Amino acid sequence: MTNISKEFVYSLPKAELHLHLEGTLEPELKLRLAQKNNIELKEKTVEEVEATYQFNDLTSFLAVYYPGMDVLVEKEDFYDLAMAYFKEVQKHNVKYVEVFFDPQAHTTRGVAFETFFEGYYQATQDAKELGIEAHLIMCFLRDLSEESAFEHYEMAKPFYDRILGIGLDSDERNNPPLKFERVFKQAKSDGFHITMHCDIDQVGSIQNISDALHVIGVERIDHGTNIVEDQALVDYVIANNIGLTSCPVSNSFVTEDMKGKEVKELLDQGVKVTINSDDPAYFKSYVSDDLIAVANYMELSEADVVKLVKNAFEIAWTSKANINQYLKQVDEYVASYQAK
Ligand code: ADE
Ligand code: ZN
Repeated sequence: MTNISKEFVYSLPKAELHLHLEGTLEPELKLRLAQKNNIELKEKTVEEVEATYQFNDLTSFLAVYYPGMDVLVEKEDFYDLAMAYFKEVQKHNVKYVEVFFDPQAHTTRGVAFETFFEGYYQATQDAKELGIEAHLIMCFLRDLSEESAFEHYEMAKPFYDRILGIGLDSDERNNPPLKFERVFKQAKSDGFHITMHCDIDQVGSIQNISDALHVIGVERIDHGTNIVEDQALVDYVIANNIGLTSCPVSNSFVTEDMKGKEVKELLDQGVKVTINSDDPAYFKSYVSDDLIAVANYMELSEADVVKLVKNAFEIAWTSKANINQYLKQVDEYVASYQAK
């Protein structure tokens, strides 16, 4: 166990860089939206919804996750979903977030791009009133085709100036980064920040990480802690200030452990590794809980936790002035806590 207090971790100013908005759908909201939209659900109570959370790997998680989105229909549903997350993480003193959303998970159900986009975007604007700077990262589903990714990239055109970056998620099995080389190169040349999931312990994890870095030219990798298996790749991400967004509690659900050892090793080597919640409604863990979980598991010091938190601000896709302001808030908080 770490000797760091829960209060210290909760009150530290924080950034979250790996968060799927659709993964913040809490059972209560799911039930409310189902009723509002006249969607017949088999589950009638929170307990019954939670009883469907049976997963032990990424594929079985996604099989629960996608059908859960059926209750999201109108613009205000997407707004309420995102706003509920921002209100929750305000309690964790989160100051800065970059959130993923999955257009194809909604358009393939007949929901128009502008419906979910306008709802999500309005919530990012209203998050400012909660003291949170929020940005959107549009992800492609890697188990769909390159053609579908390009189609959605085109569909998003009217909204480009409100999208910060482009990501890649969903099932990595047989869907490597190179399948999307052309669309990511296009996005990069159009000025978007780019990142990709390289999920834990996949077949070809190291090759996928290498291709994402060397062929696609990603600026971050989501998960990606298998990189510890290849020192040349570790050296490359250190030299190029490329961050890894790790999600320990999510890892403990979809693999055999939270990969805390890898996080600590990468942190000690100077990699910009960060701690995030991924899909907090499903894994019952918001960002402070993830930090506490990994701190307990690896007996991290206060300095380790502060470094993990600062790493997230340091690799955030916002202005240098904003980053410095956030880092200052962390330093001031730590100094005031130590002076207590
Ligand atoms: N979509 C939501 N969570 C994900 C994860 N951990 N990996 C890939 N796709 C996801
Ligand atoms: Zn993820």
